[in-house]
Amino acid sequence: MSNEKKVRAYTNIALIKYWGKRNEELFLPMNSSLSLTLDSFYTETSVSFDSSVSEDIFYLNDTFQDTKATEKVSRFLDLFREEAGIKLPAIVKSTNFVPTAAGLASSASGMAALAGAANLASGLNLDKTTLSTYARRGSGSATRSIFGGFVEWQMGTNNADSCALKVDDASWDIGMVTVVVNDKQKAVSSRVGMKNTVATSPFYPSWLESTAVDLRNIKSAILKKDFEQVGEITESNGMKMHATMLGANPPLSYWEPDSVRAMQAVRDLRQSGIPCYFTMDAGPNVKVLCRLSDGQKIKDYLSNIFNPTQLIISGPGKDIEEITD
Ligand code: DP6
Repeated sequence: MSNEKKVRAYTNIALIKYWGKRNEELFLPMNSSLSLTLDSFYTETSVSFDSSVSEDIFYLNDTFQDTKATEKVSRFLDLFREEAGIKLPAIVKSTNFVPTAAGLASSASGMAALAGAANLASGLNLDKTTLSTYARRGSGSATRSIFGGFVEWQMGTNNADSCALKVDDASWDIGMVTVVVNDKQKAVSSRVGMKNTVATSPFYPSWLESTAVDLRNIKSAILKKDFEQVGEITESNGMKMHATMLGANPPLSYWEPDSVRAMQAVRDLRQSGIPCYFTMDAGPNVKVLCRLSDGQKIKDYLSNIFNPTQLIISGPGKDIEEITD
C-alpha cells in the first residue's frame, strides 16, 4: 500500500535524568528531565497500514520479530489506530543505528521513530509537541527524541501536558563521546530498575528535591552557553540517580570495572585542562559531555584504555524527520 512513511529519530542522553513513574500506564514521570539529542545514534522506521496482512508484522534490523516483540509495537500502534479510526494491521520495519539495550537509549529513538512513522501513515499529522505525548507512552525517554538539541520533558499534570519542549537547538560547540563498555542486553531493564528504586530507595525523596534544583540551574546554564556549568550539573545529577539505585532493595548497579575506568579517565582529562564530564544511564556505558571541538582529542586519550571502535563521537542531533529513499 502506498501509505508507507519512513521516519528517522535520533536518540538522546539525559543530562537531568528521568528515573521513576508516578503513573505506569500513562508513563507520567516523577520528575521533569532534560537531554541532549545526538546525531550518531538513530532509528529509521516505516509503518504502513495494510489490508494484505491479517495481523501486525514487525521487522527489526531486517529480522522478523516474534509475537512478544510485535505485541509491544501493536499496543503502541493501537493509540494511533484508535485516534484515526483505522482498523487495518500494520507492517513495521525498523532499523536501529544504535547498539540495542546497552543503556544507549535505543528505546528512545526506537519509540520516537515508530511514533513519527505511525503519525504520518495514519494521516493524523499531529504537531511535534502532541506527538511527544504519544512517543512517551512507548518509552518515557522517547518523549525527548521528538526534538533535536537540548530538550526538556516537562512532567506535566496529565496525559496531554507531559510533553517535550525544545530548550535550545544546541548549535554551539557541544557534543558527546560515548564509551561503549558493553553492548550486550542489560540484565535489569530501566523499567524494572526505576520501579524498584521508587518503591524501596530511602534516597528517592531527596533525589526528587535535588533534581528540581539541578533542572532549573542547567536550563539557565544552557541559555548562557556556560559549558562548564552544564557539565558539572550533568555529572552530579547522573551520580545522584545511581545513588538512588544503590539505596534500593535489592541494590542495583549498572557499573562495570571499565565504567569506573572511563569515569576516572574523564577526571584525568579534566585535570589536564580539557573540560569534559561523564554521565551514565541504565547500563555500563559512559557518555562524555564535551565541546565537540575537543571530541577527537578525548577519543585519542581514551584510545589508550579502550579500543577505538568502542568510542563514538556525536554532535547534537536534529528533530525527527521524514526520510525518502
Ligand atoms: C536512565 O525511557 O528506557 O536512561 O519509560 O520505562 O521505557 P521506560 O524507561 P526508559 O528510561 C530511561 C532512563 C534513563 C534516564 C533518562 O533517559 O532520562
